[in-house]
Amino acid sequence: MICCFAKALPGPTTRMSTASRRVRVLFDESTIARRNDELAAEIVGANPENLLVVAVLKGSFMFAADLLRALHRNGLSPQVEFVHLSSYRTSTVSSGQVEILRDVQSEVRGRDVLLIDDILESGRTLVFAKDLLMARGARRVLTAVLLEKPGKRAVTIDADFVGFPCPDVFVVGYGMDAAHAFRQLPFVGLVDYESTDPDLFGGA
Ligand code: IMP
Ligand code: MG
Repeated sequence: MICCFAKALPGPTTRMSTASRRVRVLFDESTIARRNDELAAEIVGANPENLLVVAVLKGSFMFAADLLRALHRNGLSPQVEFVHLSSYRTSTVSSGQVEILRDVQSEVRGRDVLLIDDILESGRTLVFAKDLLMARGARRVLTAVLLEKPGKRAVTIDADFVGFPCPDVFVVGYGMDAAHAFRQLPFVGLVDYESTDPDLFGGA
């Protein structure tokens, strides 16, 4: 599955220099935009009612903004909320504990909720947020993630809507950071990737 996205990978010459560090593009702007429209159509197909979108800050802000516009183009008029969760500090290794830094303020009881996050990795963040919303009486909690990393799941959860499978490497951009940098990039990339490193998508 993963290797079929290798075609979307620009070669090493498309690396960008950002604050003196080099970032290799993994998923470019137009690939992400196309996928967002497909995801929106899939979400419409789930027939959400009285929909509340809850974006998990900070990493999903760009994905959520683009996905919301795609949902609008596909005829949905959701309300929008934010929950700020943290399981990473400045390290690239998960602490394993999820904290609420800012809670949802709207009533979720009886509503369909679409929970949006950037990456599904161990699954702890998504399970924590989904359980929280279900415990508050949501009718249904659907989950959408831009990226799914396959190899590090610590708890059992599958997202209902997945943008792209992603190699088990630390990625940045399109809202995601490494020690607070790179969130502004309009694409998803890999920091300090060397052309001699193995092909992340398993190709030649
Ligand atoms: P999980 O709780 O282990 O599934 O991790 C999910 C959270 O970890 C995501 O919401 C991201 O904020 C963060 N995360 C996981 N992998 C990466 C990465 O490669 N780059 C940036 N953030 C990541
Ligand atoms: Mg996050």
